[in-house]
Amino acid sequence: MSELWSPLVRRLTPYVPGEQPKIADLIKLNTNESPYGPSPRAIAAIREAAGGDLRLYPDPEATALRDAIARRVGLTAAHVFVGNGSDEVLAHAFQAFFDHGDPVLFADVTYSFYPVYCGLYGLPFEQIPLDEAMRVRVEDYAHPCSGVIIANPNAPTGIALPLTAIETLLAAHPSRVVLVDEAYVDFGAESAVSLISRHPNLLVVQTLSKSRALAGLRVGFALGDPALIEALVRVKDSFNSYPLDRLAQVGAQAAIEDENWFSESVARLITTREQLSGGLRELGFEVLPSSANFVYARHPDRDAAHLAAALRERAIIVRHLKGPRTAPWLRVTVGADEQCATLLDSLRGILLSNS
Ligand SMILES: Cc1ncc(COP(=O)(O)O)c(C=O)c1O
Repeated sequence: MSELWSPLVRRLTPYVPGEQPKIADLIKLNTNESPYGPSPRAIAAIREAAGGDLRLYPDPEATALRDAIARRVGLTAAHVFVGNGSDEVLAHAFQAFFDHGDPVLFADVTYSFYPVYCGLYGLPFEQIPLDEAMRVRVEDYAHPCSGVIIANPNAPTGIALPLTAIETLLAAHPSRVVLVDEAYVDFGAESAVSLISRHPNLLVVQTLSKSRALAGLRVGFALGDPALIEALVRVKDSFNSYPLDRLAQVGAQAAIEDENWFSESVARLITTREQLSGGLRELGFEVLPSSANFVYARHPDRDAAHLAAALRERAIIVRHLKGPRTAPWLRVTVGADEQCATLLDSLRGILLSNS
């Protein structure tokens, strides 16, 4: 700590991202990245744009990308906001919508960036416990608040809520924004986008980092009533007019438009997820029903931190989150088939050697 720091910076507890180790031949199942490369059309578009035009600023409104997203989801560009990863979009949304004095509501076990944004913007928050089965109970969110944020499917559990539950939240808080973070929605949950035309208080946030395999490009977007989008633009243009560079804009557009690549790779990943879940259950793990590109699993009589450390010795990294409710669990990203097979073999060996 330095005396040069502002009081705010002294108070911050920043988010800790999953590690990106520089170890050769590592099986990296800790940050929910895609095991497949992105759409070849996205890579071709980025290569083509990597030329002399980089001397020019990019389109501050990312018009072509927003048009492509709008076409795909059946809305207009006025319903679309884009940002530098959905983390940035979420940060702007917290600042734009959640400062009404009452707490922001989110689950006790969910994406751990939410309390960090509250710390950054000085927003009070209340963490609503998941039930015993690690599910969100929307009835527990029916009290005065500055807004609600739900990850659907939730992270790190992978469990999805039906749209009826999202509608219950929207109806309970008509004068507050209900933000649905759909980072993993493409892997099997129902998107709330279809509710946008009936609910001006609904903001849906998605990302190209997971189902489009573009975590390295940093592109996320929000969908909602044009009045909500205007608020996000006001925050963005008070912070950074050009959050998406030229390469990100063209790459993201090509990825959004490559429907075949998208549907094939999502289907492939879901098949592998179900095999991985089955394999873990055979080894005695309890595995929550996942609608995401990761699974959340615990062993009835093995310490999760110990398992994570033993896997690491075998060059496999999974995510173990400390904390009263998360400590017994491992979050395992669904990798390629061979990676998941190696993981299961290694776990089998670890379990046997300790029994
Ligand atoms: C629930 C959730 N939301 C948002 C994000 C942020 O994704 P990105 O900033 O890569 O779009 C993540 C990343 O892991 C996540 O798990």
